[in-house]
Amino acid sequence: MPEQFWWVTVGGERVVDADPTPDLVHAALTSALRCAAADHPSVRFRHLDLDPVSEGDPGADVVAAVHVADEAELAVRDGSLYVKRLEQAESGGDVGPESAPDLTHVLITGGTGKLGLEFADHLAASGAGRITLVSRSGGPPDVARRIEALRRRHDTVVDVVRCDIGDEAALADFAATLPEPVSLMLHAAVNYVATPADDITRTDLDEALRAKVTGLRSVLAAIPTTDDVRVLLCSSLSATLGGRDQALYALGNRMLDVVAAELRSDGTRAASIQWGLWRVQGPLDDAGVARVQGAGVVPMTPSSALTVGLSDLSADSIVLSADFAELRDVLALLGSHRLLADIPDDVAAPPTAAPAAPARAAEPTVVHDEIARTEPAEPVDPTGPGATASVADLLRSELALTMGLDPAQVDLDPDLPLVALGLDSLQALDLRKRVKTVLDQDLPIEAILGGATLREVVELMG
Ligand SMILES: NC(=O)c1ccc[n+]([C@@H]2O[C@H](COP(=O)([O-])OP(=O)(O)OC[C@H]3O[C@@H](n4cnc5c(N)ncnc54)[C@H](OP(=O)(O)O)[C@@H]3O)[C@@H](O)[C@H]2O)c1
Repeated sequence: MPEQFWWVTVGGERVVDADPTPDLVHAALTSALRCAAADHPSVRFRHLDLDPVSEGDPGADVVAAVHVADEAELAVRDGSLYVKRLEQAESGGDVGPESAPDLTHVLITGGTGKLGLEFADHLAASGAGRITLVSRSGGPPDVARRIEALRRRHDTVVDVVRCDIGDEAALADFAATLPEPVSLMLHAAVNYVATPADDITRTDLDEALRAKVTGLRSVLAAIPTTDDVRVLLCSSLSATLGGRDQALYALGNRMLDVVAAELRSDGTRAASIQWGLWRVQGPLDDAGVARVQGAGVVPMTPSSALTVGLSDLSADSIVLSADFAELRDVLALLGSHRLLADIPDDVAAPPTAAPAAPARAAEPTVVHDEIARTEPAEPVDPTGPGATASVADLLRSELALTMGLDPAQVDLDPDLPLVALGLDSLQALDLRKRVKTVLDQDLPIEAILGGATLREVVELMG
């Protein structure tokens, strides 16, 4: 692999107001490629989005871009270079009571899943007249009990319908049974497929897009709606920041952002929210959740996520809670930390909304969440028994612990690159914390991810 890998798209981002709707394929493949970058931390993945309407020389734009240092995401529009930044939104545009969604009939695809049920609770409490929850299975027995309790607590008609939204015939039958047009549609159906980017098959792709993208398009075509229907699509932060093994997931989520933009350009009031991590665990397994949390993303309580996310549906947004200093550190390993350059570290562990491009978007309300941190290793008492251990021994021991191994049982080869021993970028970050605590020294992470051995790291640390 080269040291730098440039990915060039045309119209894959919305940069200036005059831009057309982003190109579905260019936008989505960019999100997938960001995930591939997580698998190759020693390579700098850089992205340039060319002007979709310019008749100028793209060669000159490319040359201009490669001379910009330290920026992972660039775009050219009308001869000017843009860098991508996430910004904390300042004020909402669509928050007045007159722009509140019409809750006469809410349809939630993936409605018996984790987020679907939270939406149902929240919207029933907000006075929804009817809520229709759609999923293939109808949910397990505990979900049925929860829905029964919802019906008892609120004056809302709640219907649960079994339907595979990837099956057009089934969807047509379902649409024909709906007692009234849908006034608010929430799309939360997902079939999560986690695969390393190098191993993706055609079947994986079909599986990953079946509910999230293909199903959404079928629902939009089949379901009767009111004239001023609102559409809210549940996308994910992975579409902007990437994530290990999440290429297909990120790609599908980015497609939702594009579908929302297409709907808006056709006059439908639609928004796509890239959610961070919810405290109610959704499609990710425990290891996936741990990895996202390890990157500094803090799980949001459903109530705070919903308060922020539903407060302004006028444009796309990212709603997340994070320890931004830690998240920036992790992104630095991939060279994309400047995406967060304009977000202060001291944002109070908030769910915050930020637009996914130089274009600005929605409005956040800052809500305080706890920051979940992993406990650092116990410091070594300089006068205690560990005091005589050499830097190499301490480093070897901390390395073993970071990789989940017993230091007494393993004999790590000091001449093998640490990445060849299996140390990944998040573990490298964890190791850096441990080394800071134990040795009060800075670990040369870049050298490690670039292939340094244990012996070389010890030398670099003096
Ligand atoms: N939870 C989070 O922290 C989080 C974070 C970021 C983004 N999101 C996004 O938010 C959305 C909801 O996530 P979640 O956590 O609620 O996921 P979840 O708990 O896995 O729920 C997904 C739902 O989709 C349904 N579904 C899957 N394929 C379907 C199909 N072909 N037809 C109809 N229903 C189908 C599932 O039910 P059946 O299997 O019975 O069909 C399930 O009810 C997803 O789009 C996810 O990407 C979630």
